[in-house]
Amino acid sequence: MKSIVIRQPNELVIETRDIPHPAQDEVRVKIKLAGICGSDSHIYRGHNPFAKYPRVIGHEFFGVIDAVGEGVSDARLGERVSVDPVISCGQCYPCSVGKPNVCTSLVVLGVHRDGGFSEYAVVPARNAWTIPDGIQDKQAVMVEPFTIAANVTGQAKPITQDVALIYGAGPMGLVTVQALKGVYKVSQVIVVDRIPERLAMAERSGADWVINSAEQPLQAALEEKNIRPTLIVDAACHPSILPEAVSLASPAGRIVLMGFSTEASQVVQQGITGKELTVYSSRLNANKFPVVIDWLEKGLIDPDKLITHVMDYRGVGDAIEMFEKDQKRCCKVLLTFAE
Ligand code: NAI
Ligand code: MN
Ligand code: ZN
Repeated sequence: MKSIVIRQPNELVIETRDIPHPAQDEVRVKIKLAGICGSDSHIYRGHNPFAKYPRVIGHEFFGVIDAVGEGVSDARLGERVSVDPVISCGQCYPCSVGKPNVCTSLVVLGVHRDGGFSEYAVVPARNAWTIPDGIQDKQAVMVEPFTIAANVTGQAKPITQDVALIYGAGPMGLVTVQALKGVYKVSQVIVVDRIPERLAMAERSGADWVINSAEQPLQAALEEKNIRPTLIVDAACHPSILPEAVSLASPAGRIVLMGFSTEASQVVQQGITGKELTVYSSRLNANKFPVVIDWLEKGLIDPDKLITHVMDYRGVGDAIEMFEKDQKRCCKVLLTFAE
């Protein structure tokens, strides 16, 4: 089989490897589609401190079960599945409180263990979620990115009366917009970015108002309309955003952080305590695959609005480069592995 391997930072090769056999409680997935994410590019470029090389990247993937290991029913053969990349122990403190996404022995497919940019992948059977017939392949491969939004909203518990402000109209900002509008029916969702093409995508995903902060300072734009956001999601993840969010938020507001910056953010306690703000963080997803599959079945979200390119996996090098350089035109780029 062919696998997309990062041998070391900046060295991407399509290798021929033996087709793996599923071990006990594992299934083998014949991959049909996989999505490129920022973290794939970070591993490729050597910017992910957790990555070990060589590594088959890819943590957003969909396919069909074509072999099962001991302990897994033959009935699963032929099942269409999306794979949750989060592998957890089930025993530790975070696992016991429903946060397997921060398991003390967390393994993420495509980061710590070989992932889905490959013709076949073996994964734990319980990570392979059945996709109902009514959900198309292209929607199914988008489950993982939407689980990030499901995790964010699972923490912040949006309500209709919220005035939400989302920083960043990249893939993560857009899945969050769709969840807030489509699932939670939040009355006002505002998105701020500096790239007009991306803001146009945010509008297509349901944003009520977009602000280009390269043209008008965010604070002035909000003050002009007397808006104090009650829910702020940082899907742009620059360390300067937290202090700004603290100052813009309504009293009793919530802020959700998604970033992994190692640089300090300057915030004073009074800014948070004075308004009794709640600051959440959200990493990967905690058991959100069934949640997003349900959203898709009910037609509450529309992944097609995020998919800008579908290409053969053999062009993966060019695809990642385009994904990195062309933020105006690229949002979700999918790789096809089999007809
Ligand atoms: P992206 O880089 O495609 O999008 C970020 C957007 O934010 C860009 O459009 C950029 O123009 C905009 N931006 C940057 N600084 C800004 C500012 N100060 N104000 C307004 N907009 C600003 O990235 P993507 O894929 O959407 O991911 C966003 C972030 O989320 C990344 O930092 C990534 O590391 C993080 N992430 C976190 C996850 C989690 O589970 N916590 C999962 C996936 C991504
Ligand atoms: Mn991803
Ligand atoms: Zn655990």
